[in-house]
Amino acid sequence: MDNSNANDTIVKTALVTGGSKRIGATTVRLLHEAGYNIVIHCHSSRQSADSLAEELNNDRKKSAKVIQGDLNDETIYNNLIDQAFQCWNRLDVLINNASSFYPTPVGSITMDDWNNLINSNMKAPLFLAQAAVPYLKQTQGNIVNMLDVHAQRPMKEHPVYCAAKAGLAMLTMSLAKELGPDIRVNGVAPGAILWPDNDMADHTKKLILERTALKKPGDPIDIAKTILFLVRDADYITGQIIAVDGGRNLNI
Ligand SMILES: NC(=O)c1ccc[n+]([C@@H]2O[C@H](COP(=O)([O-])OP(=O)(O)OC[C@H]3O[C@@H](n4cnc5c(N)ncnc54)[C@H](OP(=O)(O)O)[C@@H]3O)[C@@H](O)[C@H]2O)c1
Repeated sequence: MDNSNANDTIVKTALVTGGSKRIGATTVRLLHEAGYNIVIHCHSSRQSADSLAEELNNDRKKSAKVIQGDLNDETIYNNLIDQAFQCWNRLDVLINNASSFYPTPVGSITMDDWNNLINSNMKAPLFLAQAAVPYLKQTQGNIVNMLDVHAQRPMKEHPVYCAAKAGLAMLTMSLAKELGPDIRVNGVAPGAILWPDNDMADHTKKLILERTALKKPGDPIDIAKTILFLVRDADYITGQIIAVDGGRNLNI
């Protein structure tokens, strides 16, 4: 496997879960622009993942690959990480970005909802991180978990999603404590960046922005730039969760 460039400098590899669209895709593009080889993980959005990989490979040959898998299937976690490693025989960065998100008002919560929301938002990030440890140790690599301002304060009608992100926030700190000094682990907690693909009422959107100190939604690039900072430039930062939310958490 070739993981060096024409000048024979080492090219680092980043795996971004749920990386084919939206915030994941913006993160993929920025890390790629910063020189990383990228493994784009997707589940149902294979076509988008393939065209993103093609775009990146046109820009820099053999710099992006796609792996696919449903994070509800716990039997694939180790294999996903092995596949990512095998792309370039190294793994430097894991971005746990994939997430399912939808309301589960009390009275309507099913076991399927519980499993679906916990799996992608908490269980998979932990077990992917665990599987990645031996590889990240080799590279003194790092992990970024995608959280939410609602990991700290509940969002109405979203108890399972919020609990999953709260669990992931604790895992971020626990893993940082356990995996140092070899591996850094941090989190990014977005506020209102992109509205969910499922319907959200206009008055709810308006209310959220009114309660955001900067009075506007963020842009995926705000998140991607913070991830790049944590991944590339923050050698002495671990166990931290940075809110990128325009001040939303001041007034939830
Ligand atoms: N958007 C925001 O404003 C906002 C606010 C707060 C927090 N966040 C957090 O920031 C991250 C990115 O947000 P986003 O809105 O860009 O995410 P998103 O579009 O809602 O989801 C990202 C990807 O997650 C993947 N995914 C979901 N369930 C999966 C499963 N069971 N197995 C494998 N992949 C699965 C999907 O991949 P496929 O399409 O390939 O199936 C999806 O494209 C998330 O962790 C989210 O919780 C976002």
